[in-house]
Amino acid sequence: MTKVAIIGAGPCGLSMLRSFEQAEKKGEKIPEIVCFDKQEDWGGLWNYSWRTGSDQYGDPVPNSMYRYLWSNGPKECLEFADYSFDEHFGKPIPSFPPREVLYDYILGRVSKGNLKNKVKFNHCVMNTTFDGEKFEVTYRDKKNDKISKDIFDYVVVSTGHFSVPFIPEYQGMKSFPGRIMHSHDFRDAEEFRDKNVVVLGSSYSAEDVALQCHKYGAKSVTIGYRHNPMGFKWPNGMKEVFYLDRLEGSKAIFKDGHEQETDAIILCTGYLHHFPFLSEELKLQTTNRLYPPMLYKGVVWQNNHKLLYLGMQDQFHTFNMFDCQAWFARDVIMDKIKIPKNSEIENDINKWVSMEEKLENPDQMIDFQTEYTKELHAMSDYPKIDFELIRKHFKEWEHHKVENIMTYRNKSFSSPVTGSVAPIHHTSWENAMDDSLKTFLNK
Ligand SMILES: Cc1cc2nc3c(=O)[nH]c(=O)nc-3n(C[C@H](O)[C@H](O)[C@H](O)COP(=O)(O)OP(=O)(O)OC[C@H]3O[C@@H](n4cnc5c(N)ncnc54)[C@H](O)[C@@H]3O)c2cc1C
Ligand SMILES: NC(=O)c1ccc[n+]([C@@H]2O[C@H](COP(=O)([O-])OP(=O)(O)OC[C@H]3O[C@@H](n4cnc5c(N)ncnc54)[C@H](OP(=O)(O)O)[C@@H]3O)[C@@H](O)[C@H]2O)c1
Repeated sequence: MTKVAIIGAGPCGLSMLRSFEQAEKKGEKIPEIVCFDKQEDWGGLWNYSWRTGSDQYGDPVPNSMYRYLWSNGPKECLEFADYSFDEHFGKPIPSFPPREVLYDYILGRVSKGNLKNKVKFNHCVMNTTFDGEKFEVTYRDKKNDKISKDIFDYVVVSTGHFSVPFIPEYQGMKSFPGRIMHSHDFRDAEEFRDKNVVVLGSSYSAEDVALQCHKYGAKSVTIGYRHNPMGFKWPNGMKEVFYLDRLEGSKAIFKDGHEQETDAIILCTGYLHHFPFLSEELKLQTTNRLYPPMLYKGVVWQNNHKLLYLGMQDQFHTFNMFDCQAWFARDVIMDKIKIPKNSEIENDINKWVSMEEKLENPDQMIDFQTEYTKELHAMSDYPKIDFELIRKHFKEWEHHKVENIMTYRNKSFSSPVTGSVAPIHHTSWENAMDDSLKTFLNK
């Protein structure tokens, strides 16, 4: 019997499990599956942890989410085609839920059957090799500190790529008297109440961590961008300046001459695609981009078609794109989708990579990832979902952010699955200090 290892039980790993479950429900004979996750429960990044650094077993903590994290895109854009928000919550809910609500939704879809039995929790995959025919996977049972090996026909890498921080160094850091941290270790904006905070970066973490600090009472927030500013209309108390040059004592000095007394520096400088558990020839090497090279249809490792990667792209689309990838990967594994010959794979990858390299603005990037997801969607029996509506929602959302970065999360969108329109939330995001599921759903 074909045996499949799924590494990681975050949203991508859960999509993979769900895809097999759905095939089995249709009477198809599915392979034997073993899913490993190094955390003690599933949900990946959405499974909030207070921990930073390493856990009680000496393993690096993968969690990068923080308290008061709200969805940064409309939930309608990530909705599962086979499990709507209306079905899970029994009623339409607002478009920008906090983390706990999305976590509940993700788990709702997989908790009803017996998928949990397929996951070995607290098991960290340490090494994976391929002998020309099969994979040997070495893993550590963290609780019992026991190392074991097993043989698999296929390996699915669904370990995410927002867990290992990229940490640059700037002159003066060694003698800076305040706190220096990466957004990976950011947990609670309350820590920065009445503090002068410098945030470095110009992407989603920089935007959201800066806004969080402002919302929870930081005295000032100065964002240092490197290439392009985010350029939003920041509220009083926040500003965006050009590139940190150095620190002198507690003063941050930027390349545009700007100087800022600073209590804390938060590096929102992104993450590394880091796969210490794969042998060199199996390792995807990429930056955070919309079409990492060497992956056919963004999923199948070009040099070994029995190795599949999920969710390795930079992400506008998330959960339903992961699903389309998982359904596609499942059908490759179950031999329902034939992999074309090498030259065709090469041409297909080159086509997408060269299109990606020409993208100039967020609207084009949204179009690109929507087209990619639609193409995958057409290749499997993943249920119908309105990707044209999702495309439209993403573009509207981008424009809402440009209009007002403080209010974009108060808007409402319609479901690409059920068509229902989200109610406006009872409290505007700026004033919603309690991010619990209970308060969000019931006030
Ligand atoms: C701060 C932050 C906020 C975000 N907010 C949003 C949002 O609002 N909306 C949105 O759609 N997306 C958001 N994302 C994007 C996020 O990447 C996806 O939503 C999603 O979590 C990706 O799923 P994944 O399964 O690929 O990876 P992950 O969620 O990272 O899950 C990977 C799993 O693999 C396990 N693992 C890793 N290595 C090993 C190993 N060697 N052995 C065993 N198990 C292993 C980990 O324990 C983890 O459970 C956010 C990301 C970050 C960092
Ligand atoms: N729900 C939420 O609200 C929320 C919050 C946070 C994050 N997220 C998600 O988390 C994921 C990761 O986002 P991310 O922002 O952490 O990573 P990212 O999108 O990869 O961005 C990395 C940023 O780091 C900057 N950078 C890298 N090296 C630098 C250096 N030496 N000095 C200064 N800046 C440097 C880059 O700047 P250049 O452009 O100049 O290279 C870029 O702006 C995304 O999927 C995002 O959606 C969601």
